[in-house]
Amino acid sequence: MAAERPIYLDNHATTPADDRVLSAMWPYFAHRFGNAASKSHAFGWEAEAAVDAARERVAELVGGSPAEIVFTSGATESNNLALKGAAEAYRSRGNHIVTTAIEHKSVLDVTRRLERQGFRVTYVSPNGAGRVSAEAVADAVTDETILVSAMLANNEIGTVQPVADIARAVKARSSRIAVHTDAAQAAGSLDLPERAAEVDLISLSAHKMYGPKGVGALWVRRRPKIRLAPLVDGGGHERGLRSGTLPVPLCVGFGAACEIAGREGEADGRRVAALRDRLREAILSRLSGVSSTADLAPDDGERLPGNLHLSFEGVDGEALILALRDVAVSSGAACASAEAEPSHVMRALGASRDRIQSSIRFGVGRFNTEDEIDRAARRVVSAVETLRGAAASGVPPRSVVS
Ligand SMILES: Cc1ncc(COP(=O)(O)O)c(C=O)c1O
Repeated sequence: MAAERPIYLDNHATTPADDRVLSAMWPYFAHRFGNAASKSHAFGWEAEAAVDAARERVAELVGGSPAEIVFTSGATESNNLALKGAAEAYRSRGNHIVTTAIEHKSVLDVTRRLERQGFRVTYVSPNGAGRVSAEAVADAVTDETILVSAMLANNEIGTVQPVADIARAVKARSSRIAVHTDAAQAAGSLDLPERAAEVDLISLSAHKMYGPKGVGALWVRRRPKIRLAPLVDGGGHERGLRSGTLPVPLCVGFGAACEIAGREGEADGRRVAALRDRLREAILSRLSGVSSTADLAPDDGERLPGNLHLSFEGVDGEALILALRDVAVSSGAACASAEAEPSHVMRALGASRDRIQSSIRFGVGRFNTEDEIDRAARRVVSAVETLRGAAASGVPPRSVVS
């Protein structure tokens, strides 16, 4: 008998593509294979029309116009384009950038590079609950500041940042500063036109919202126009901001994912949050010594609906992940998990090393069921009890960590 598939609770790392997304994409892998930049025949026109429709759907999700959407390979590239592109385009105005200490590595590694190139970067710290205040960001702005970048939702602990307030506070200091937000985790769950109002640049990724991997977008405000230097030069695609033949099937899939999110995102979010709360209750009611990062400041803002970040006293998070072989969870950012370093996000919160090392991230998603949540909770409780028992007796838990 084939082994049962593990229960997938790592929806911050990636989400499975929705069947409706796959159906929309399929013809563009098959008989509708034209190049969207081919202007001289019907194959190209058909592909271009499909990309145009997808562009409209992505634009609608962010509350912008289709001409403001630049398709990219994902949020990593969008973040690179936003930061490096603005740094180069506005360098004559100043050399200072403000960001936060809890950004994804695809922002922080870029700012580190820009620092090596002579830019000055201020990293604003969050409070102990993982929230960055608009005042703290605005206070970091100087006459030399050209760009502010603050993520909308954090990929580890799920905190939602007051990005619209940040943008308003920054613009009150100077309307010439470009404001960027990495909305990779937020898109599909949170209302972007409201949450990212006043922002100039928004990064998106399709595979975080039940679309395909390998495609994303950067929304670039046109009024007032935000200038960017491209990362990739070539045939001048995407209004010169991102040359290269468009992956038409992926763009179509991204468009379909945006349309579904626009129609169903709110109801989906309520369902996912209920499942997340069910998982939390099932674990916390049966185990002592478990704390939720959300409880560090329960009144301080909201979280992504699917995010549950727990720390298990006396348990090594990595050992627990290994023990949970049939439940797919993570200790933090999948994209940075090649690094053995403790989470920079938890460190920025001022969490102790023990707390960081005993933490696990659960990411509930659209396709999880109550039955999966109940089974996962039972597995977690039993694995934690086994690991704690082994630690107390001094005997390594052979059956758990192999
Ligand atoms: C907040 C955030 N930004 C950016 C990325 C990178 O996205 P992509 O995989 O589309 O490059 C991720 C992926 O985990 C993320 O969580």
